[in-house]
Amino acid sequence: MKMVNIADYEALAREKLSPMAWAYFAGGAEDEVSLQQNHEAFRRIKLRPRHLVDVRTRDLSTQVMGQKIAMPVILAPTTLQRLAHPDAELAAARAAAAAGTIYIAGSGNHHSVAEVAACNQNVWFQAYYYNDRKVQERLIRRAEAAGCTALVVTIDAHPARRVERSMREPLIWPVDIELRNLVGVGLPDHLIRPGDSGLREFLANIKFLPVTWDDVAWTRATTKLPMIIKGVMTAEDAVIAVEHGADGIVVSNHGARQIDGTLATIEMLPEVVDAVGGKTEILLDGGVRRGTDIFKALALGAKAVLIGRPFLWGLAVDGEAGVREVLTILREELDCALDQTGQPDVKRISQDAVWVES
Ligand code: GLV
Repeated sequence: MKMVNIADYEALAREKLSPMAWAYFAGGAEDEVSLQQNHEAFRRIKLRPRHLVDVRTRDLSTQVMGQKIAMPVILAPTTLQRLAHPDAELAAARAAAAAGTIYIAGSGNHHSVAEVAACNQNVWFQAYYYNDRKVQERLIRRAEAAGCTALVVTIDAHPARRVERSMREPLIWPVDIELRNLVGVGLPDHLIRPGDSGLREFLANIKFLPVTWDDVAWTRATTKLPMIIKGVMTAEDAVIAVEHGADGIVVSNHGARQIDGTLATIEMLPEVVDAVGGKTEILLDGGVRRGTDIFKALALGAKAVLIGRPFLWGLAVDGEAGVREVLTILREELDCALDQTGQPDVKRISQDAVWVES
């Protein structure tokens, strides 16, 4: 079957992945209402096409954190990509480089941030927090030494979460997955090579959030890298993030994997944009599956979107080539949306390009 959209990749990925890997990647919290809502909220926003504008030349490039990218789509940090393909993060980082965009390396990756950064000059590093600032500092220094151009601080990944698909299909730690970023930073060995411990146990043991905004202040003082706060879902937290020196904010509910019952990220975007008033750049993830979804997020004030599951489906189907193809599809769909709506430049799509139910 010819693969023409992200849903095609999702369907084939489901066939290829083991049941536990599918449960891990696809799952959302509890009833998965927010998981669905992340998609459905995009569908409720409508386009307002303008015609007879000269759109023969269309510019999909933009700048994020001062870095030029060829399309407003960034690869989100995702854990355990080697469940999808042996080349894991290297394949994804190379595909992002081929598309001229940023790849965000995650703490919980098989390949180290240095290995990943050797594949793409635009790599950001996503830091979870471990209960020791010395460990944290070593991780940040590694990211700096690897040449990462920004640090992403995730604030929403509370260890206690209930992804019921994964409770039914628990993840048994595959022997060929290491956590190379975490080797040699001072964590106990049994946490880094978790053997056959289940993911819940692993997450409960190893992943800690910044406990309070003081930890974010510490991070701000510890690195000169631009700092992006990921996981903001309210105006209140957006304002506090700005006060703590955030250069960027990702409006995100962690792929609706943490708690069910939040609004969709695209529904929260306008309140965050209003609260921040241009003081930091705003990105969004959650539910992006179409070029028109990207278009809608840009119209409502995001500089770019992050995609997670869509590129994992490409990775599962065909490694680097699959991720490249997923990015190509999104690029072509976005380009089509620009053409059809009279928008020659992604940097100039404004709110009047969409209709939002009040
Ligand atoms: C990791 O961040 C996950 O959501 O599993």
